[in-house]
Amino acid sequence: MPLFKKKTTSAAQLPPPRHIAIIMDGNGRWATRKGLPRTAGHAAGSEVFRRIATYCRDIGVEYLTVYAFSTENWKRSEEEVSAIMGLLKQYLFEALEKMERDKIRLKFFGDLRRLSPELLELIDRTDKTSAKYQGFQANICLNYGGRDEIVHAARAFAQACTTGEAKPEDLTESVFSDYLYSAGIPDPDLIIRPSGEIRISNFLLWQSAYAEYYFTDVLWPDFTPAELDKAIAAFHRRNRRFGGV
Ligand code: FPP
Repeated sequence: MPLFKKKTTSAAQLPPPRHIAIIMDGNGRWATRKGLPRTAGHAAGSEVFRRIATYCRDIGVEYLTVYAFSTENWKRSEEEVSAIMGLLKQYLFEALEKMERDKIRLKFFGDLRRLSPELLELIDRTDKTSAKYQGFQANICLNYGGRDEIVHAARAFAQACTTGEAKPEDLTESVFSDYLYSAGIPDPDLIIRPSGEIRISNFLLWQSAYAEYYFTDVLWPDFTPAELDKAIAAFHRRNRRFGGV
């Protein structure tokens, strides 16, 4: 029974974190345990992403950021990479069709240049079409790596210095944040990693400075709104001090 039903500010039902980020891990193991090909795990994981994104929107989360494909995931078999890319295309086609109804703003974090022209075109269309929506925003990390993002931002800042647009002495944490894929978006409050792995895997390295982590053994294809409620309840039990006392 989900705990967090709708947007609320009552003392009994605390508001959800403003920004939740998820490493959607465990698709492969889920499929293997069921005697299915790994790609079946990604298909199930893709459905769970839809369900969790809708749930986040309905309970008043403002931003959901998911790790869909890392800079290291190209090491997987061609079959698996192309299955994941196919699921992303399918999701974007559907998202475009339902955009008027769902009003979900979609953004993409990562070095998108390595993606196929077809996927790039869909991403561009989705990005532009959904830009007008002000409510819930889902950020999909594609060919994303936290270190790569920081290098990319440093390079862009250095470039701005060479053209005179920026000066090295003006660089602050806040200015640097504006060169990241997540420019203008608040840092994640809660980062969830299902599947039992307890590591960051190059996800939102800069943005996670003060995030609360939540790890669970549940595999991503088995992740439900009730599991998300548990993560949010755990988040509310934390004492966030941001370096203070
Ligand atoms: C990690 O599990 C998952 C991925 C690398 C791919 C995630 C992609 C999707 C859920 C599909 C498309 C996404 C969207 C947003 C529509 P794993 O394969 O590493 O699992 P394992 O650790 O059990 O092998």
